[in-house]
Amino acid sequence: MELQDLRGDLERLRERALAGVAGAADVAELEELDVAYLGKKGELTAVLRGIGRLPPDDRPRVGAIVNQVRSAIEAAFGARRAVLASSALEARLADEAVDVTTPGRRPPRGSLHPIVETAREISRIFGQFGFVDYEGPEIEDDVTNFQLLNMPPDHPARDLWDTLYVDIDGYLLRTHTSPGQIRVMRSEAPPIRALLPGRCFRYEAIDASHQTEFFQVEGLMIDEGTTMGDLRGLLDQFADAMFGRGKRTRFRPGYYPFTEPSVAYDVECVVCGGAGCPACSWTGWMTILGAGMVHPVVLRNGGLDPERYQGFAFGMGVERIANLRHSVNDLRYYLDNDLRFLEQFR
Ligand code: PHE
Repeated sequence: MELQDLRGDLERLRERALAGVAGAADVAELEELDVAYLGKKGELTAVLRGIGRLPPDDRPRVGAIVNQVRSAIEAAFGARRAVLASSALEARLADEAVDVTTPGRRPPRGSLHPIVETAREISRIFGQFGFVDYEGPEIEDDVTNFQLLNMPPDHPARDLWDTLYVDIDGYLLRTHTSPGQIRVMRSEAPPIRALLPGRCFRYEAIDASHQTEFFQVEGLMIDEGTTMGDLRGLLDQFADAMFGRGKRTRFRPGYYPFTEPSVAYDVECVVCGGAGCPACSWTGWMTILGAGMVHPVVLRNGGLDPERYQGFAFGMGVERIANLRHSVNDLRYYLDNDLRFLEQFR
């Protein structure tokens, strides 16, 4: 092989190698080229091996050229490697960038059911007068729901409560929260100030003001010398807190077997102020609860001596009060679980 030819070959090899390196699109392609030119079986290595076939005088010169070419190619590889690495890093940074100015995703916010919220508000107001929450069972026994409340079997007043029975003999779905009075009297010593919020059940034809399930809050206060005046004063404080100060209120005579005397408690219609409107059926009044002085028979059934203790009880419908608070006119909404309704109470 002629020295001149070899020079030319090396020159072309260098040009090809440099062009290839400059055009390598990524590190992987660059490594392939590295192997192809500089590797053990690479082109430059092959040329180097051919030096042995040159006349001894030419060898050092050719060796020097090969080394020059080699270092030129190596330098090109190094420079290209650095460029590719930094652009790969830039691409990754751009790709994984977090835009901290993007507004966050708001998690949906829940809210209390209007019945729960209203029951809690009732508890909060009476809590200020020392009343404490208790709970009774939804599946109640006939004895506690009726008999101990002064309604023996076949008592005609049972017709006031259209009862749903369960197929366990002697048990029913409580028709009101009043059986809780007995449970509290039997478990606590006077003075007693108890609230019993809870779900009640009646066999009703369903319409805008009747459901088979509804909520009551029972109140019970027992002490020595508790009077009807205490009841009225407490209820008026409650009406002030719940419906705004200064509403007119009244007691009307009522009848319950477990209170004597018994009353219905009315508050001036919050919609029309007493003038008469559809909300109050043109009476000007809204009946919010039944109440009375606990009957001596009931006190005795609760384990208390009626000669020593007196007390009052009341039972209010939670839906009634929620309707007034939130201007709802159909209590079927409360149990429909329609979010379009429920989301309005945030
Ligand atoms: N339990 C009665 C009802 O469901 C309400 C009431 C409670 C009346 C306590 C008097 C005393 O209608």
